[in-house]
Amino acid sequence: MPDPALSTEILHTDPAGIARAADLLRAGALVALPTETVYGLAGDARNAQAVAAIYAAKGRPALNPLIVHLGSLEAAEDLAELCEGARACASTFWPGPLTLVAPLRAGHGLAPAVTAGLPTVALRVPAHPVARVVLEAFGGPLAAPSANPSGRISPTSAAHVMAGLSGRIAAVLDGGSCAVGVESTILGFEDGQPVLLRAGGVSPEALARVLGKAPAPRACGKITAPGQLASHYAPCAALRLNVTRPLPGEVWIGFGPDCAAAEMTLSATGDLQEAASRLFGVLHAADAMDRPIAVAPVPETGLGVAINDRLRRAAAPRV
Ligand code: TXA
Ligand code: MG
Repeated sequence: MPDPALSTEILHTDPAGIARAADLLRAGALVALPTETVYGLAGDARNAQAVAAIYAAKGRPALNPLIVHLGSLEAAEDLAELCEGARACASTFWPGPLTLVAPLRAGHGLAPAVTAGLPTVALRVPAHPVARVVLEAFGGPLAAPSANPSGRISPTSAAHVMAGLSGRIAAVLDGGSCAVGVESTILGFEDGQPVLLRAGGVSPEALARVLGKAPAPRACGKITAPGQLASHYAPCAALRLNVTRPLPGEVWIGFGPDCAAAEMTLSATGDLQEAASRLFGVLHAADAMDRPIAVAPVPETGLGVAINDRLRRAAAPRV
């Protein structure tokens, strides 16, 4: 339940807003902030109470570990042991929409709940200038899952954050809408071999160019990250995929020039980057119309892999 005593501050991304965000974070409070992928709900990753508050605000199961956000590759290497492939990907894609899962180092100092007790940690150096300046002002690791109630559509604007978490968190830094629009790609390594744990803002093709081979898909049926559960990112309304002819009453979300008749579009020109950046905003808007949703086919290449992954989860039967 929202705490009636807690009214969520909306902060601007000016020096006063950044300083206020850093002060709140140092005091153990939660601040939602923009990243290039989606808004994150940030808290001090070394403070057990702040981490517990993140799980509580989201209604997130305690078994679902959080991503730790850092300012640099060096800061990441202080916390975890990166293998050669992980370091190559970090050098290429950080700062940016890639999360690496790596074994924790002794003396890491993170609150145990951040990793849900796993011996590994998920690490990311975000590219968004506001996230970077907050990390610098705060001066430590920030745990930050997407700033939405657990299981619901991820937020790509401060208004989306407020719609889901107002009254549950101390503040949101309003940095406009997120450019990438889908969450980071999560890459792990098993026996030195790269494994794609979640499709996201860095395409599988781009990873393959750095790794010299495509990362293996996650072993079938093996859930190591809850984003892997079938129903996740779900709107309230029913949703059908690969629809070229919507049924009467459905909100049709188009992609590409063949869908000129669609009520909304991910990208009228069929641009996957634009479609990713608009995906969650369009789903939030369609969901608010209280009608069933039908989405046009999106190609399964580049960012389309992450877009289709999120759409399949949104359409899956609710768990
Ligand atoms: O783009 C993003 O990644 C955004 C922004 C805010 O950075 N964050 C985000 O966090 O999507 P969240 O909590 O919604 O998703 C984190 C995912 C979860 O599926 C979680 O299970 C997985 O990361 N994860 C965290 N630690 C892990 C670990 N040690 N091993 C495997 N998966 C892990
Ligand atoms: Mg999430």
